[in-house]
Parts: sequence; C-alpha cells; structure tokens
Amino acid sequence: MRTLALVNQKGGCGKTTTAVHLAGALARKQERVLLVDLDPQAHATMALSVAVEEGEVSIADTLLHRWPIRDAIRPAAGGIALAAARAELGEFEEVSQRVVNPEQLLRGALATVADRYDYAIIDCPPRADGVLSANALRAADVVCLVVEMGAFALQGAFKAVSILEEVADDMEVEFELRVVATLFNRRERLARDLLIATQARFGSLMFDTVIHENVALREAAASGLPIQLLDPQGRAARDFEYLAEEVRCLGRISPLSVSAGRVEKLHKKSVGSR
Ligand SMILES: Nc1ncnc2c1ncn2[C@@H]1O[C@H](COP(=O)(O)OP(=O)(O)OP(=O)(O)O)[C@@H](O)[C@H]1O
Ligand SMILES: [Mg+2]
Repeated sequence: MRTLALVNQKGGCGKTTTAVHLAGALARKQERVLLVDLDPQAHATMALSVAVEEGEVSIADTLLHRWPIRDAIRPAAGGIALAAARAELGEFEEVSQRVVNPEQLLRGALATVADRYDYAIIDCPPRADGVLSANALRAADVVCLVVEMGAFALQGAFKAVSILEEVADDMEVEFELRVVATLFNRRERLARDLLIATQARFGSLMFDTVIHENVALREAAASGLPIQLLDPQGRAARDFEYLAEEVRCLGRISPLSVSAGRVEKLHKKSVGSR
C-alpha cells in the first residue's frame, strides 16, 4: 500500500477536493483505495455524503481510543473505502499530550489494513504543525503539497515547506515531497504567472498535471459524489485521471526521496533566489 498525504497549512487551497477526486480516479482505475479523513472538519466525509451517527466508529476512535481502523472504514461512492471523521477528532490535539509517541498511531493503524488497499490517501487539516498532520507525515510515503494558484501561493508554499521541514526534522522521518497546483484558471494572468513561478521553484517535485478551477468540483462537493460519477467525461474528471496516472507512476520512475535536509536545501535555494 502506498500512502499519500495531502497537506498545506493554508485553508481552502483544495486539499480535500484533491484527496476525494484523486481517490475516485484511482478507484476508477480498479485500484483499491482507502481515503482517510484526518480533518476534524470532516469535509472529505461530507463530500462523499457519509454521515457518522452517534455511537458509530470513526477515525477519531482509532486515534483517541485505539479502536481498530477497519471498524472506522466504510464503503463510499465511486468504489472508495472511507475512514470517516467526525468533529471529536479535534480532541486528539489535546489528548495526545498525555500519550507516548502520539504521532505514530495512524501509521500503526494503517499497517493493519495495508494488505487490503493499494493506496491510502490522507486528507489533512489546515494545520501542518499539529499532531494530526504529524500522524499523516509519519504514515506517508509521499507528502503532496497542494498549492492554490492564487495570491500569495508561493509564500504559502514556502511556509508549508519550512513547517514540513521542521516536523520531519523533529520526527527524523523521510518522505517524497511532491507539489500539485490547484484552482488554476488559465484566463487569469496572475494564475499563469504563478504556475510558471511555482514550476520554476519546485521543478521536478511538481506533478505535471494541473487541477483547473472548475465549477463541477464545487457541485461535486455539494452532491456528495466523486467527479468520476457526477461528470465522468468532463474536464475535471480528466484532470484527476491524469493526476492518478502520475501517482501510479510514483516509485516506478526514479523516486526522489526527500529527507528533512533535502527539503531545507530546496527551501533555502528558493528563498535565496528571490
Ligand atoms: N479545482 C477547483 N475548482 C473549483 N472549486 C474548487 C476547486 N478546488 C477546490 N474548490 C472549492 O474550494 C473550496 C475549498 O476547497 P477544499 O475544501 O478542497 O480546500 P481544503 O484545502 O481542503 O480546505 P481546508 O483547509 O478548510 O480543509 C471548496 O468549496 C471547494 O469546492
Ligand atoms: Mg479540507
């Protein structure tokens, strides 16, 4: 099982949208996909119209009470298996202070279902330095920074990289870093310039696929369906199909392993060349 975490401390940059529809695109390619909603906002859970009723097990129970993750997993639309979230997941930040190695819990839980899935996709909360994101970083082989092609995108991306660098350093973990550009509107000059600047700064760490701004993705969130079911022939479904194909190639074509030191170098290089 390959585990990919979608991160950025910036809110609303497209983490959940990317997580849900990338999972949908991989599932459409007959991959066995587990989508892990690690955000107390539970947006990925809502985006797939899954309601966790009182008394039902969620990923919060896995982290807070060590319930087996398989009890928190349920089938969702588009062939996706969802480890659903609920708001009480937010309590884990405080509770974790009384737990030994709290950042290792998700990795341990995912190991118990690793033979059931080809991919685990983790949707992170908009906070890169909390214990939930630390769990995602610890569990992930690939950390994908989601960068919205809007104002201050690069500044936000550098801040995210420097937070990831610190967290990775503290935990002494290594992962592959990748960057995906989202909410791209080719008619906006700022977006075009930003995409070129982001590609120039992150180079081969960037996915070639760019996720375009597309109203169908907002509708998908409201309808509770992955775009592959809502509008399978549309542009947005195609974007995620291409992204899924790139994700499938990760690890096959010379994986670029990024340790904390490598991230730091990348960060310094980009800051220095401003
Ligand atoms: N490519 C896109 N085209 C159109 N709308 C989009 C696109 N990506 C995201 N959105 C919309 O932008 C809003 C924020 O997206 P999303 O929830 O995916 O961001 P997020 O990074 O997960 O936010 P948070 O940090 O709060 O978890 C949502 O309303 C979503 O439907
Ligand atoms: Mg989100």
